Amino acid sequence: MSEQGSPTPADATKQTLWFDEQVTGLKIIDQTMLPHQLRILSLNSLDEACEAIINMRVRGAPLIGITAAFGVYLALREGSVDLHSACEKLLATRPTAVNLRWALDRVFRHVVALAPAQRCQAALVLARTLLAEDAAACSAIGDHGLALLRELAARKQQAGLAAELNILTHCNAGWLATGAWGTALAPIYKAHQAGLPVHVWVDETRPRNQGASLTAWELGQSGVPHTLIVDNAGGHLMQKGLVDICLVGSDRTTANGDVCNKVGTYLKALAAFDNGVPFYAALPVSTIDFEIHDGVRDIPIEERSAQEVTHVSGLADDGKLHTVRLCPPGTRVSNVGFDVTPARLVTGLITEKGVFTASVQGLAEIRSSL
Ligand code: MRU
Repeated sequence: MSEQGSPTPADATKQTLWFDEQVTGLKIIDQTMLPHQLRILSLNSLDEACEAIINMRVRGAPLIGITAAFGVYLALREGSVDLHSACEKLLATRPTAVNLRWALDRVFRHVVALAPAQRCQAALVLARTLLAEDAAACSAIGDHGLALLRELAARKQQAGLAAELNILTHCNAGWLATGAWGTALAPIYKAHQAGLPVHVWVDETRPRNQGASLTAWELGQSGVPHTLIVDNAGGHLMQKGLVDICLVGSDRTTANGDVCNKVGTYLKALAAFDNGVPFYAALPVSTIDFEIHDGVRDIPIEERSAQEVTHVSGLADDGKLHTVRLCPPGTRVSNVGFDVTPARLVTGLITEKGVFTASVQGLAEIRSSL
């Protein structure tokens, strides 16, 4: 894995992964260094692609699927491993987001039918197609979500309330997590660009703090007003009428409308339900697992290292990055990465195909639109 200091500005501002024609290499923003350093890495092998996904240099459901697709290309280019083994290795990197399996299935089925000499180039072309498709899907999610935000703003105005929409989000579901735009953040960017006044409550999202380090950074780059809050503050804000809508992403959505997302999402949905706040998940259809009908029972939940909970990293006053321990040495830790919000708590699903109910019927409608 090689490192470059200064990316091309266009790429660095709105894209977190791109294929560099000149060096025929895959470039990524190393998300583990944000917001302190904008470090661009080149991924040159299957092992480097796997490492980047496992250690969350790239992360977010759509983005890990896209990275895995490029990982197949890198594996075939190296020639050290066969197609099937490369896909198995990439699939084992993270268990929860179904986009990984979705992308690998697509690449495998396409490439396996070709003569060996054609496979490498075909994998590259398809990986680039998946990247472009995801960017387009997220843009469409933004358009459908914008229509919803406009309705909400109009209702507020009719009721004589302030026009500004207060939106609560969890984790990072922005352009850093996708081909472009983001999922939950796409409607927010589109609203901001359209002049609709929006303000975002950003959950810090312990333990890896994707809200504090990534969402706050992204929104700041685009000038979207936002306030960082601790993960437990959302319920209080909703009780006080300070949240108009919750917008989150999804790592896997089931055939009955259950939404699996970063751990803590379920508690926000419960608080939203109790306070009559609409709760929407925004997701490309590549995030839907039509094989699963009970998310709590059947979605595999990633468990990550204890170190993510026991320690915290950040920029100290000496200008250097430091990692410090928070708890007594030897403290036992559980670190589940995701939870499942049952469909009954989800007001709707914003997809590139439109907005649907989180129900068997809504998911069937999405399926028939594919
Ligand atoms: O563990 P992460 O950072 O990969 O988790 C990401 C999330 O939970 C996102 O909300 C989800 O992938 C949707 S991203 C568009």
